Parts: sequence; structure tokens; C-alpha cells
Amino acid sequence: MSVDVNAGSSGEAGITEPPAPVAGAELAGGHAGPARLSALVGTAVQAIAAGVAERGGPAPAREPCALAEQVRDTMGEALPELGTGAEEALSCLTRMLAAGSVDPSDPACAAHLHCPPLAVAAVADLVSATLNPSLDSWDQAPAATTVEREVVAALAELAGYRPERAAGVLTGGGTESNLMGLALARDAALRELAGVEPAYEGVSGPACRMRVFCSTAAHFSVQRNAALLGLGEASVTAVPVDDRHRMDTTALCRALRRCEDSPAIIVATAGTTDLGAIDPLPEVAELANEYGAWLHTDAAYGGGALLSEELAPLLDGIALSDSIALDLHKLGWQPIAAGVFLAGEGYAMEPLARRVAYLNPADDEAAGYDGLLGRSLRTTRRADAFKIAVTMRALGRRGLGELVDRCHALARYIATQIASHPALELAAEPALTTVVFRYRAFGHPDRVNAALRRRLLRRGSAVVGRTELSGEVWLKLTLLHPGAARTDADALLNDIVIAGTEEDG
Ligand SMILES: Cc1ncc(COP(=O)(O)O)c(C=O)c1O
Repeated sequence: MSVDVNAGSSGEAGITEPPAPVAGAELAGGHAGPARLSALVGTAVQAIAAGVAERGGPAPAREPCALAEQVRDTMGEALPELGTGAEEALSCLTRMLAAGSVDPSDPACAAHLHCPPLAVAAVADLVSATLNPSLDSWDQAPAATTVEREVVAALAELAGYRPERAAGVLTGGGTESNLMGLALARDAALRELAGVEPAYEGVSGPACRMRVFCSTAAHFSVQRNAALLGLGEASVTAVPVDDRHRMDTTALCRALRRCEDSPAIIVATAGTTDLGAIDPLPEVAELANEYGAWLHTDAAYGGGALLSEELAPLLDGIALSDSIALDLHKLGWQPIAAGVFLAGEGYAMEPLARRVAYLNPADDEAAGYDGLLGRSLRTTRRADAFKIAVTMRALGRRGLGELVDRCHALARYIATQIASHPALELAAEPALTTVVFRYRAFGHPDRVNAALRRRLLRRGSAVVGRTELSGEVWLKLTLLHPGAARTDADALLNDIVIAGTEEDG
């Protein structure tokens, strides 16, 4: 039978013409994708430049209400009946977003562990978005599955694990990696000590006695995750820190002894959010071993130090942990998200394994079509490993280590400037790339420091972090800009002092 390919919409032969394209709905991939994409990327890049120029500094100089109103005005109806087309929508909203964003690529934007992404990583992220591999089955991510395995193996080796025994997965960030660490620790402890499978039976009986130990400076996700896992926030014992803000192992030992009858999880922190303090990992590991506790190390921030020859020794002993959280969207210059969870022994991840008919049938797996579903808490999952693979290849460990060293050196420089400035007070020597300090106010230091930070934000001239130490308000600079110069740091401190004087007046 001959088929008329030019026949109308439903010819006798049952052949249909492709429907006419909907304006703005052209696909990113396929043969026509690259040309279409390069036109739209050009539009987006121009709009970013226009928005950045409109902002004119590290942050939008607007009060929150005024900024929200401007965003709403620009957006108009979020779901209009008729679309405006890809160019207009991309151009208009990109410009608005760029103008209304804080820019971590500006040295005066130094508040959070919110890094300026490398251009190479951002473009690699666009590649992932375009090709859209999903890591929940091999047939959605044939090459990306291996890319993720290789990236995980390389990072496991960097942490000192044996890559042939270790396993891991890309996550949404430190919070999710810490959740995985606690979940696997809970499952392992209860299976071993009480013969309970909490993944199946739920958390009752011995799980109710489970204790989690972390330092008072650990990330709040430890408590939040304990709540999510049914252990309850009350199961978390916050162990005091020593004079360097690291977990006090004598206090940890006492706390473990008090709860000897309970299954225990220890969460060490390698790089606390504010001061970058690194818990004494070998001693903590020794106690974990003595008390049969799972040791998870939250290196979401400090894990970047592994890239640096100078700083890596600070993390000696990290490989003694049962699991580790790393975050390359912090000290790794990746666009969000680039979280990594690692387990020293791959079998520890078995509780996550699932057999799902539409994703990983056993005969597919036996034939080599082996995906990563059983590694993750998620199902559909982006190929975040790709941008990391591209970055690691582009810069190598040495190049990335140099970026870490530059940020650390700048933090040390800023700390010396603060320590010798009559109007500023340094909280502690920087361990990694954060500097905590405050303005010495004559009036009310807490009010003045809080207000000076908002003043800088309102002006759009700087984005400075804020935290509390012993109940007092302190300021924080998180240095993640590897190209920032000492003169940038001097200008930022000067701006802070001027704002402090204005608020203190
Ligand atoms: C030490 C530490 N752990 C975990 C997290 C949470 O990471 P994420 O924000 O990527 O979930 C942070 C965030 O700053 C952190 O500093």
C-alpha cells in the first residue's frame, strides 16, 4: 500500500501531519534544537546584561515591598490566556530577575554559602537542562548514569574512601545529604541492634530510644531531619563546643556514656556554617567506634577544603566516617544544586533499593541496563553530576584547590584588617573562608549591627551575613569569590564601618 505523506490531517492511510507548532513551544533538543537554543541563549544573555546594568551593584537597591511590587508589575498575569512568545517572555523576565537578584559574582555580595557559579559549570547545567537526562532509570540517562557513577567515585576517593567499596549519589544539597546519612544510620543501627527494619516496620520500639549527637554549632538540618525521620528533635543532643567552636569530645564521650543503652548516631561537622569550625574528626571517629555509633560527617561547607593541598589536612580522618555530605554549590562554584552524599560502604545504601516495574525490572538490570534509582530518595533526578564532571575536567583538582586557597587567603586578610580596625571586633580567626565580626557600637551593638546590615541591603551596596554568638548579633562575611581582590575587601569593610557610624549616630 502506498502512503501519501502529504495527505491531510487524518488521511485514509491513518497518517497524520505533525500539528502546527504553538508559538514559543519549540523544543530545546532534536536536530533543530541547537539553532533555536543559540538564538534564545543570545536573547537571555543580553537580558542578563541589561538587568545587571539596571541593578548597578551587588543587590537591588529596593525595600522588600517595593521590589515585590516591581516583580509583580513586570510579571503581570503569571498565567495569561495568550502567551507572548519565547523571545519576549525570556527577555522580559530574565531582565527582571537579573535586576532583582543579589549577585554572588560581586565581591560585595558575601553573606551566605551561596557561591558565584563558574561560567563553564553554568553552561554545562544548560546542557543538562537541554538533554534532560533523568537518573532514575538507565533508559532515561544512558551516559549520564555513568557520569554520575564516575563523579561519585572521584569524590569518594578525594574524601579518602576506597572507591571500589564506596557508593553515593547526587542530592539537592546538604540538607538532603544529611537526611540520607541519618536515615541510613537509623536503619543500620536498628537492624543491627534490634533486628528491626524501620524502612518496613516504621519507627517504633527501639527507634524511640535512638539518640543523635552533634555539636551546638551543627547545621539546623540535623534537628529537622531527626523530626522527619520520626526520631523527633528531642532525640538530638547538642554537645558543647570547645574554645575553637569544635565539638568537645570530652563532652561527647560523657553524653554517649549517659545514653549507652540507646542506638546512637553521631553527626560531626567539617566546616560549621558560621565559623567554618571543623570537629576533631579522628577523636570523634574513635568515640563512634567505641560506642558502636554511625558517624555521619556534614562536610557540606568544609568538604571543599579537600580540593586544597594546604587545607585538606584539616579534614584528616573524614574517611573514618560511615557517610559524608559534600556540597559543590558552596565551596565548589557550581550552580544550585550540586549536593553529594557518600557512603564508605556501598551496602549501607541497600535500604534505599526499590524494584519498580516501569523503571528497573530485574531482567533489564541483569542485561546491564542498570540505573541509579536505588541510590536516591528521589525518583526523577537531574544530571547535576554533569556540570561537576565538566568543571573537574576543566580545572582539575589543582585549579579548584587554587580557588579554595584564594578564598581562604582573602578571609585571613580580612580578619587581620578587622582585628586592627578600631571600629570592628573579630570573633575568631577564620578556619576556612568565613569571617565573623561586628561593628563596635557605642549604643546598642545588637540593634546597630542588625540595622547596618539592612542599611547596606537597602542601598544595594553590599550583602553581608548575620548570625548570633552567645545570643549576640554578629556579622559574617562568607568569602567565595575567587577573583575578589584585597581592595574589594577593603572597600567592603569601609562601607560596613560607614553604615555602622550612620546607625550608631
Ligand atoms: C554545615 C552545613 N550543612 C548543611 C547545610 C545545608 O545545605 P543545603 O543548603 O545545601 O541544603 C549547610 C548550609 O549552609 C551548612 O552550612
